[in-house]
Amino acid sequence: MRIAFFEIEQWEADYIKSQISNLKSQIEFFFTEKKIDKDNLDEVLRQVQDRNFDAISIFVGSEIKKEVIDAFPNLKLLTTRSAGFDHIDLEAIKQKNIKAGYVPGYGDNTVAEFAFALILNLSRKIFEAYDRIKEKGLFDFEGLRGFDLKGKTIGVVGTGRIGKYAVAIAKGFGMNVLAFDSYPDEKFAAEKGFKYVSLDELLENSDVISLHVPYFPSTSSGQGTHHLINSNNINKIKKGALLINTARGAIVETDALVKALNEGRLGGYGADVLEEEGVIKDERQFLLYGNLEGHNLKTVLENHVLIDMPNVIITPHNAFNTTEALQRILDTDIENIKSFIEKGETKFPIP
Ligand code: NAI
Repeated sequence: MRIAFFEIEQWEADYIKSQISNLKSQIEFFFTEKKIDKDNLDEVLRQVQDRNFDAISIFVGSEIKKEVIDAFPNLKLLTTRSAGFDHIDLEAIKQKNIKAGYVPGYGDNTVAEFAFALILNLSRKIFEAYDRIKEKGLFDFEGLRGFDLKGKTIGVVGTGRIGKYAVAIAKGFGMNVLAFDSYPDEKFAAEKGFKYVSLDELLENSDVISLHVPYFPSTSSGQGTHHLINSNNINKIKKGALLINTARGAIVETDALVKALNEGRLGGYGADVLEEEGVIKDERQFLLYGNLEGHNLKTVLENHVLIDMPNVIITPHNAFNTTEALQRILDTDIENIKSFIEKGETKFPIP
């Protein structure tokens, strides 16, 4: 069996090899730090030489569209070392009967903790304070007044694995919690003492809003989360509230976001993800070899404006990145691959 691992570091490669050592004789490994998507497919194919891989393991920087799947005629297994799977064309996978696995629940606390790092950074102006003392040498708190979290209301959008931790952490800060979810967990709400409301009600009444829903393209039945926060509802957000996004960039309409920040209606934006974030990672590569028509260039430009705004903190999709979470990610990916080899099914199939 030939397996290609993309976006993998050397220590991860060593760990994977050591953990699948009992099957080593059957497995031929290929490891690369590079991502794979249709923009760099030709380059990857030149590097791998033989494209007859039985399995591919990726992370969130890779985008598996039909063109990528078609480039590997032997492919039987695709695993992603992530909780989100919106970077995979699930229809194309299904059509070719390729099994797919993911890593649910590796970093529920990990991502929720990061959301609070962003919240506190904005509510207490930590970055501005740090920048002032480190870069300007000024030990002065003028203009750095923030606000308490205690007694404020947080709106948690999506109370799945990560959202539930966000609720628990918020309660630890003494915050009131409102939540919105298409499948409310009333038992959890009663346990933690919060209530579910409509999205509009949450937007109107929260001082901080934290997004924890998966990304799904919008459907005719309106079930998707594409631009869940958009030009029609962003003005419903309480004036001066903070919006936090550790989920996926395209859950927020960048155009509406930049306008709301520019007009001072939104108090701040803290995000670990960007709409079109795949482009920003390597803009030179994208400009020279990328598929410009397949991307929204206005959004790409708006991202730069967003990043430069003073009340905005953007981190490079780093919320997952703790030693403990990475270990859980690798162990689950290995379980998915082993289970496929032994039983023909991944342990955690993409739902
Ligand atoms: P989960 O599947 O446990 O929970 C998602 C919740 O959202 C569920 O309760 C579901 O009912 C709700 N939901 C789904 N669609 C909805 C809709 N249209 N409207 C309202 N509620 C809806 O997912 P989990 O593990 O909590 O992860 C959430 C997302 O966080 C992932 O899908 C991923 O995109 C993102 N994530 C980001 C990471 C990062 O490094 N920045 C790391 C891990 C996950």
